[in-house]
Amino acid sequence: MPEFPHLFEPFIIPPVHLKSRIVMAPLFTAYGRPDGTVSKLTLDHYKEVARGGVAMIVVANASIDPSGALSKHSLRADDDRFLPGLSQLAETIKKEGAAAVLQINHGGRFAGGKTVYVPSPVSISDINIIGFYKAALKSLDIQQQWAILSGAIHQQPKELTVAEIQRIIMAYAKAAARAKEAGFDMVEIHGGTGYLPVQFLSPRTNRRKDLYGGNPENRMRFPVELTEAVKNAVGSNFPVGYRFLADEWLPDGFSLDEARIFAERLSALQVAYLSVTGGTYESFSNPEIMEKSHEPGYMVYLAQQIKEAVNLPVITAGRITTPELAEEILREKRADLIGLARPLFADPQWPEKARTGQDNIVPCKDCGTCFQLVVADRPALCAQWDKAKLIKRKGMIKEMQNPRKKILVAMDESENAAMAAAYTGDMLANRKDVTITLLHIQTDESIKNESGIREMMDIARSLLAKAGIPEEAVTIQVREKKTGIGNDILNEIAESGYGTVVMGRRGVSRAQQILFGSVSNKIIQNTKDCTVWIVG
Ligand SMILES: Cc1cc2nc3c(=O)[nH]c(=O)nc-3n(C[C@H](O)[C@H](O)[C@H](O)COP(=O)(O)O)c2cc1C
Repeated sequence: MPEFPHLFEPFIIPPVHLKSRIVMAPLFTAYGRPDGTVSKLTLDHYKEVARGGVAMIVVANASIDPSGALSKHSLRADDDRFLPGLSQLAETIKKEGAAAVLQINHGGRFAGGKTVYVPSPVSISDINIIGFYKAALKSLDIQQQWAILSGAIHQQPKELTVAEIQRIIMAYAKAAARAKEAGFDMVEIHGGTGYLPVQFLSPRTNRRKDLYGGNPENRMRFPVELTEAVKNAVGSNFPVGYRFLADEWLPDGFSLDEARIFAERLSALQVAYLSVTGGTYESFSNPEIMEKSHEPGYMVYLAQQIKEAVNLPVITAGRITTPELAEEILREKRADLIGLARPLFADPQWPEKARTGQDNIVPCKDCGTCFQLVVADRPALCAQWDKAKLIKRKGMIKEMQNPRKKILVAMDESENAAMAAAYTGDMLANRKDVTITLLHIQTDESIKNESGIREMMDIARSLLAKAGIPEEAVTIQVREKKTGIGNDILNEIAESGYGTVVMGRRGVSRAQQILFGSVSNKIIQNTKDCTVWIVG
């Protein structure tokens, strides 16, 4: 008999089977690359958490539109070019035995895009978010605080037109479809914390006079419509969860009474679960609310209220630090699933340690380190990690922030290929901040001339070594042809995120030029965000 029978009882969010009731609640860590793609650090972080035995991981806060990204380190799901990284992330989590969920979001007022979209351009003094930033950043010196504050508040928000609302709703739907295509098991709409859906729900931030503002029904229209669009985009068999604000904890704010009605609306749309939260950035400016948020299980009562209002699985989170408390919440049927955000960041082994009765879980101390870092747009660390983990993470953060430039050299057995390698060596002589891949896409001809290719690769390697490129920075890849040399190279560029491609004047041998046309022209015409050097 396990010590925590309720916690380790399986659960189904149809059609997804969960091995226990433990869910990683979304925790934005600012581990995305500066261009919004999934970094090695992102993969490493979620892999470690998945390995610790959690049943389901909600990957935090992928933007649905460039205007909605919270930070340059937010993951993005707003374009197909993010699909390869997202697929790798979903696969990494699932391989370790956890269900993978992508949370999608538009930050509204809190987003860092060129244009800051809001339901109504409410002045910064009307909503006390400066107080929140001051509280969150209190450990920084005044100059650092000011740098962050001025970045956060200088933008003039723009009231969304109805046409822009419709465009953003479609962007949610497209991002959800991408989550599905990338192989995630579910998608979660971020409807908490004070981001765009909440900015519509709350009478404090929504002063519109049209169909999207005013009475509660109208204020719910935007999140209801976007949920409907997301459901339609992914189909009835793909679960759509909702991070749900049950109470803003503010005078004249979005309240539990309205939240119950909103939960019914979402239930009618057949969302898969509600992950219940309380409070927005503005609420946490209030010291009393801040104080309350340090209490164990401080949001459980909200989950219970919502669970009583609708017949949907409910996740509760918020300082559920011990398996004993998690077990009690489930035993008393106050929620169906337990969300752990910071506890799993502090100790990813929490679920496995609880399952096997180990009493050495490293607790989250609620010190605020992770939060203060991400509010300052810096990657999260945890004060509870041991030295080895801290050193490893800091190294990976450095690599994520200053990724080595990735260069692809398209190789065949021709002299042009050797010239491309020689030119690459000349241009990058002694550089230590690059990685170079020598890629050959096999053809019927080159398969017959394997030794010719090997020889050419050796020549290229020695030319690069002579130019002072470190040996470990050069890798050789020989690939079978899939759809054609040009297309295969283009796919490789997109999937692996090369910044520069180098090829001989026509990239392939003369016979192939005649057969396939100019590969180099094709590459030049079809690459985005990638420099192409044609040599020869
Ligand atoms: C650093 C940090 C980042 C967070 N990022 C997100 C997020 O991206 N999306 C979200 O819905 N909640 C986010 N949350 C809220 C958590 O999911 C969770 O509700 C809250 O931290 C309380 O749970 P915990 O005590 O288990 O951490 C974040 C919280 C912290 C501290």
